[in-house]
Amino acid sequence: MNRSLLNSEVSRFITFEGIDGSGKSTQAKLLADYLSSKGIRVFFTREPGGGSLGEAIRADILDRRDIDIEPYAELCLFCADRAQHVREIILPKLRDGYTVICDRYYDSTLAYQGSGREVDPGLVHRMAMASSLGVEPDITFFLSVPVEQALLRLKSREKEKNKMDEEPFEFHSRVNEGYRQLIEKGTPRIKVIEASGSLEEIQMEIRRFFE
Ligand code: ADP
Ligand code: TYD
Repeated sequence: MNRSLLNSEVSRFITFEGIDGSGKSTQAKLLADYLSSKGIRVFFTREPGGGSLGEAIRADILDRRDIDIEPYAELCLFCADRAQHVREIILPKLRDGYTVICDRYYDSTLAYQGSGREVDPGLVHRMAMASSLGVEPDITFFLSVPVEQALLRLKSREKEKNKMDEEPFEFHSRVNEGYRQLIEKGTPRIKVIEASGSLEEIQMEIRRFFE
């Protein structure tokens, strides 16, 4: 990561991670705008929902209140969404020279399905990796914020809540713990961003990696 993105021709794959309400979508979009303003060709996308199967899968997992979805089924759906998203969108955009910014990627599966839903971690890991078709992020920003603060931010967000957002505090705590374990394992691509402060402070911390 010591190459300067702004001076580099090399396209990059940047992902954002964090618990719901951590502010990652806001920061991911701000970074996309910033890099675009520097003349970098940026493609912004998100999971779930990025590919052509994505919106249907997203609606089934997140919006349908009439199904009590089995955790293993949920794991399969997120992974199906990702595999299609990588093949249809992420990989072609990287090959075309775009910097791709993705709001959530396979670390979300490890944290949410592995730790949040407590599905067998070995299985979750294998499926999450397989769903990426071998496309790994170059850099991942993990927005670190106390669970209490994230849930307060969610409460004040105008966007309608989905099923995950409505999960109890304990669920979000387990997800947070899942991310922590991933970080403690020493995954160099993951940069922990202190995200309790203002939008501007957080964005400045993220931009430091592109100077
Ligand atoms: P996420 O994508 O992690 O769920 P969002 O980016 O959607 O989070 O932010 C959740 C809510 O918190 C939104 O209403 C957003 O405007 C607000 N928010 C985001 N970052 C901050 C911040 N640094 N300080 C205060 N509110 C914030
Ligand atoms: P979304 O509305 O995009 O929330 P956010 O803005 O917080 O990212 O909802 C996506 C939800 O799906 C979020 O709660 C995390 C969850 N999720 C998983 O459980 N597993 C996954 O593999 C992915 C990509 C997302």
